[in-house]
Order: sequence, then structure tokens, then C-alpha cells
Amino acid sequence: MTVAKVWKLLRQPVGRPTPENFICVEEQLPPCDDGDVITEAEYLSVDPYMRYKIRQIPLNSTMVGSQVARVTESKNPQWPVGSLMVHYQGWRTHTHLSSKFLQTKDNNVSPLPDMGNLPKSLGIGVIGMPGITAYFGFLEICQPKAGETVLVNGAAGAVGSIVVQIAKMKGCKVIAFAGSDEKVAWVKELGADYAFNYKTTNIGEALSQAAPENINCYFDNVGGQFSAEVLPHLADLCRVSVCGAISTYNDDSKDIGAVSLTSPFSEATLIWKQLRVEGFLCYRWNDRWTEGLKQLQHWVLEGKIKYKETVFHGFDKMPSAFIGLFDGENIGKAVVKL
Ligand SMILES: NC(=O)c1ccc[n+]([C@@H]2O[C@H](COP(=O)([O-])OP(=O)(O)OC[C@H]3O[C@@H](n4cnc5c(N)ncnc54)[C@H](OP(=O)(O)O)[C@@H]3O)[C@@H](O)[C@H]2O)c1
Repeated sequence: MTVAKVWKLLRQPVGRPTPENFICVEEQLPPCDDGDVITEAEYLSVDPYMRYKIRQIPLNSTMVGSQVARVTESKNPQWPVGSLMVHYQGWRTHTHLSSKFLQTKDNNVSPLPDMGNLPKSLGIGVIGMPGITAYFGFLEICQPKAGETVLVNGAAGAVGSIVVQIAKMKGCKVIAFAGSDEKVAWVKELGADYAFNYKTTNIGEALSQAAPENINCYFDNVGGQFSAEVLPHLADLCRVSVCGAISTYNDDSKDIGAVSLTSPFSEATLIWKQLRVEGFLCYRWNDRWTEGLKQLQHWVLEGKIKYKETVFHGFDKMPSAFIGLFDGENIGKAVVKL
């Protein structure tokens, strides 16, 4: 009998989440019947979107999330013992995946791409969902052209750091913002032409200096006040890819249903600058997921995309790793290693 440790949502956070919002319990898994498998997590992901999701799930639900997991018991020839997968069964050490579930379309279970000598954790990082978000969210929505000026915030994070590098590969001038001097130094190493610490810099003044020609593509991970300050610096016909709005995720004062966000994009600015502002979810490109992963892996192997990970050790670190996202504790992708 396998016993899983599982993190559940105990109380709804108000504002920034705290460790008291979560509780770790033990669950006995059902036995492995024909077609079933049992997996053990190797790396678990913590992501900003989880702050939205916990507004939508009932108390005592398992916290949502993805993981790189290894099959430890199997009565399913498609998933032999030892095979590796990425699944979205949440914050849990062990998982029972039934034959019925494994046959369901859109079950979000996929084999981990062959990583060769690369760390398996990249399957929830640069060669996983955050990589796909950067790749399609930037290239498809911003449609960058060589010589254009691209602005990226959250630029030392999982998604932002990849956007910086793809924008450079496309021949763009890149202006990046991140939340510490160490992060700014890394983003410059990645090729950003200008990088600023938004906590110690006047955003408007920095943009006047770095982009007197104004910005053609804005990849926004932060939203809120940051975007309000960016708005006057956007060029006519700028393409804005609204990837995330992490600066607003803990703001419970402006809840609209499950989503808390006040848009800084006024209609007058949209009209007069003829902006194209488009939000997206990475799953829009589900049918091109494999293509994206292959390209990202190729770039990593060629050294054209560099990555960092902030690895938290131990399943007990799940809440603190998650909460740390809102304090900028991570550089690159935040993962928890079991
Ligand atoms: N649309 C999609 O399908 C999709 C998919 C994945 C991610 N996203 C979004 O993309 C964004 C980045 O996600 P990620 O996974 O790459 O996370 P991440 O950037 O690796 O981690 C979050 C980072 O956000 C920054 N941050 C936290 N609070 C902030 C605030 N109040 N103002 C400004 N920056 C703040 C921190 O960096 P600093 O030290 O720089 O502040 C922190 O390290 C998030 O908004 C996320 O929701 C969207």
C-alpha cells in the first residue's frame, strides 16, 4: 500500500498567502489494478497561476500543479516502471492514475521529453509550460521583427528570462526589468541591452533613456502599476502580450469573480496609439506543444537559451517555495525537489 503526502488548501488566503493557508496530510492510495499506475514525484512546480486557482477550488482540495514523476508501480504496458511523465495532479508525493483516467483525452499526462544530459526538472521549466509560454506568447502575439524594441518585465523569472533570449535571437533591442541587482546582472548576461531593477529605478525615466524611440513589443508578466508607467512609452501599433499580472494576484480588494485585475490600458490610449493588447493562456498552442518543446530543447542544447533554477529541497517546502514567488525569492524557475 502506498501512502502519499498531499498539500491541501486549508484556508483561503487574503492578500499574500501564508504557510497557515495550507496543510499537509497523508492519503492511502488505492491498489494498482489493470491499466493503472502509481507515480512518485521527483520535481514539483510552483507557479504564480496557483494564486488564481486557489480562489476557484474548494477548501480541503489538493493544491493544483504539475510535476515530473516516475512510475513506481505499473499494470499499464504504455507506462512501464521507471518511465517518466509530466502530470498535473497537484502537490502530492505519490499519485494513483487509474486506467480510466489515463485513457481520458486532455488528461494533461505526457511523457517527459528525452532530456539526455539535461536536468529532468527542465520538463516543468524551460522545456515545459513556462518555455512554451515564452515561445508562443512572445513570437505569436508580439510578432517581433529585427530592429524592433522589446520590453520584458519579470525578466529574471521562468518565462521572462526565456523571452529576453528569444527576442535577442530575433534581432531585437531588449529592455528588461527585474527585482534585484543580482537578477539585473543575470538578465544582462542573457543579452538584454538595458536592464533595470524596478525596485530602485524610476520606470518612466529609465524608459525615456533606454527607448527614446518607444517600444514596439511589450511582454508583460507584471501588469498593474508597472504597465501604467509603461503606457506612455509604447510606440504606435505596439503589440502587447499580456502573459501575467503578478503584481495584482494578491490583491483581493478588486475581485471580479475569480479574477482580480484592474487594467491600466485606457481606451483613449488604445485608440490613439492603435495598440494591440492580447491576453493569452499557453494552452492555446496545445496542438503545437511538441513543436515548441523541440525548438526550446534545441536552443538549450545549442547554448542559445540559458536557464537558471531555484531548487527548494523537500516536499515540506511547497508552501514556502510558492509564497516566495511573490517576494522574488526565485531566479529562473522555482522547483521543489523531493
Ligand atoms: N498566460 C500564461 O499562459 C502564463 C503561463 C505561465 C506564466 N504566466 C505568468 O507569467 C508571469 C511569470 O511567471 P513565471 O512562472 O515566469 O514566474 P517567475 O517570474 O519565475 O516568478 C515570479 C516573479 O515575479 C516577480 N514578482 C513577484 N511579485 C511582483 C510584483 N508585485 N511586481 C513585480 N514583479 C513581481 C518576482 O521577481 P522580481 O524579483 O523580478 O520581482 C518573482 O520572482 C506570471 O505573471 C504568471 O502568472 C502566464
